[in-house]
Formats: sequence, C-alpha cells, structure tokens
Amino acid sequence: MAERPIESLNRPDVVLEQTLRPSLFADFTGQAKVKERLEIAVTAARQRGEALDHILLSGPPGLGKTTLANIIAKSMEANLKTTSGPTIEKAGDLAGLLTNLGPGDVLFIDEIHRLQKAVEEYLYSAMEDYRIDIIIDQGPNARSVQLTIPRFTLVGATTRSGLLSAPLLTRFGIRERLDYYHAEQLQQIVERSAGLLKVPIDSTGAMEIARRSRGTPRIANNLLRRVRDYAQVRADGRITGPLADQALAILEIDQYGLDEMDKRILDAVVVKFNGGPVGVNSIAVTVGEEPDTIEEVYEPYLIMEGYLNRTPQGRVATELAYRRLGLKMLAGGGQARLL
Ligand SMILES: Nc1ncnc2c1ncn2[C@@H]1O[C@H](COP(=O)(O)OP(=O)(O)OP(=O)(O)O)[C@@H](O)[C@H]1O
Ligand SMILES: [Mg+2]
Repeated sequence: MAERPIESLNRPDVVLEQTLRPSLFADFTGQAKVKERLEIAVTAARQRGEALDHILLSGPPGLGKTTLANIIAKSMEANLKTTSGPTIEKAGDLAGLLTNLGPGDVLFIDEIHRLQKAVEEYLYSAMEDYRIDIIIDQGPNARSVQLTIPRFTLVGATTRSGLLSAPLLTRFGIRERLDYYHAEQLQQIVERSAGLLKVPIDSTGAMEIARRSRGTPRIANNLLRRVRDYAQVRADGRITGPLADQALAILEIDQYGLDEMDKRILDAVVVKFNGGPVGVNSIAVTVGEEPDTIEEVYEPYLIMEGYLNRTPQGRVATELAYRRLGLKMLAGGGQARLL
C-alpha cells in the first residue's frame, strides 16, 4: 500500500491555522513546563512594567512556535511585528524594522537560523544595548550614526537551533524547546479544533486522529479536516472511532504516524547498520539528510515513540522498530523478514 507522505500534512494552511490557533496560554495544550516558565516571565515583566527578555523558541515544525509568539505578544499587550530570517536581506532591512518598534513591542523573527551573517551581527547590539548604527548620506559624506531604539522583545523561532551561532544564542535570556505531543494531548487539541469547526466528534474518533498525527498539532488539525470531509460525504457528519479509522485508511495515512523520512531512518539503522549502534552522521549520509535535522527534527519523535535509543556508541534500533518494518530481530543481531 502506497503511503501518503505525511510531510505534506505539515505544511501550513494559512486560513485554517488562524482559525484554530489558540490565542491565550489557557487554550494552549501541552508543553506544560515551557508554558509555565513563559507565563511566569510574562507576568513578572508586566508587574515591573518592563519589556520581556528576548525569547528563543526551537523545535520541529508544527508544534506551536508561531502560536506561542502570538500568545506572548498578546499577553504582554504588545504589538507584534512578524518577519523571517530569509526575508531580511540586508542590515538596512533590519534597521527599518527596529526603528519602527515602540517600547515593549515584540519583533518575531521566524526561521532565525536563516539570517545572513551580516544581519545577525547587526542584531547583536540591538538586542543587547538597544542601539544600532546606521549609515547616512552617500559617497564622501557617508557617515555612521548611532541610534537608540526602544526596549523591545525579540522572539526568535527555529527548527534548527543547532545552526545558531553562540553569540546569538547567548543573547536570548529565555530559551525554550518544544517537544512532540503525546497522543492524549493531541486528542484534546483535536477535540478543541472540532468544536471550533463545529464538527461532532467523540473521544475515540479524536484519539484515532491523534495517534496518527506524528506528535504534531498541525498534522492533527489537517487530518481532522480530511476526516471531516469523509464523514460529511460518506456518513452523517459525525466523527467516531470506526469512521475516523475508515477515513484515514482511505487517505492512506500511516497507522503509526510515521512519515517517509522516519521510515528511511529506521530502515537505515535496522537493515543497513544491522540495528546499530550507528552514529548520526552515517545515518545522515544513508538517508540523504543533514545530521542536525535528523538530530533535531526526526530523532526526537522516534525516540519518544520507542523506536530508537540513544547510547554513547550511537543509535540503536529497538524491537518495535524491527516490527514496524515487518522484520524480526534475531538473537545475536541481524534480521529476518517476517512472512
Ligand atoms: N499547543 C497547542 N494547542 C493547540 N493547538 C496548537 C498547539 N500548538 C500548535 N497548535 C496548532 O498547530 C498549528 C501549527 O502551529 P504553529 O504554526 O505555531 O507551529 P510552528 O512551530 O510555528 O511551525 P513551523 O516551524 O512550521 O513554523 C497552529 O495553527 C495551531 O492551530
Ligand atoms: Mg511557525
């Protein structure tokens, strides 16, 4: 059975994301510790009437970084300006953004690992001293003038914190990493989204969707929409466990929520490297992906779900990984294909 690559389900649908995106900490499910620490920082800054410290949010796609940036700005009652690493082409673009900020405003830079080096360096003094240098005039009259900018809060988001330079990292007073969600948390998110979309759903239906969402709220919301279509066309519009199961089977969504890259990684460890231990660089070469993407984006889910273990010698496949690939683990290493 050809399986639909789940990556396609982790692309943002702009309208849907805005409708379903929680706008308050109270509506943000999961990530309890991160949420608690951020709420404390926000409340403390508000009590002191100060701008919030700069915040770096990292973690795989679709786990809620942009959502949290919005919640943070809203709970600070601050204006939010949004931009992204690749769209800031030169230091001048950044200067334009910074000089337009008011005190306490939040500047959200998505994909901050993709900032150009020169732009990144320009950001240092802005973050630390709230000062920037701008060049005025041209030719022989050109000179650099120092401008003071209001105390603002930079919220950076990245899927690849490993690519951030040390000087940039250390300028964030608060650094938080989001982790994959457990099925029960995704179930709650699906139920909340179904409520907003006015789709009747029971808890087994929500769980069925949650289990196949690869620990990712964005995927859960996208699957919910597809199951809703099926329920409307093939049934009475209600989503139950058996109905969700039928719909997801027709959509050819992997039963365990694994995507193509997950399977290639498991296949590499189990088949090519005989179950490991194998280093992340060797896995990366085999599957044709960057080592730090494997480490930061794929591996955390595979470890959370119990497919891989991280040992000092390298990554080791568990029995569950063999089973998912339809293989049997043999005593003494090696594998045999199941009938
Ligand atoms: N904790 C949560 N509770 C409820 N819904 C959530 C939560 N986290 C994310 N979502 C939903 O998932 C969608 C994707 O989240 P978001 O856009 O914040 O992810 P992201 O981490 O910024 O992803 P990317 O790295 O691709 O930019 C949001 O629109 C929101 O509806
Ligand atoms: Mg985002």
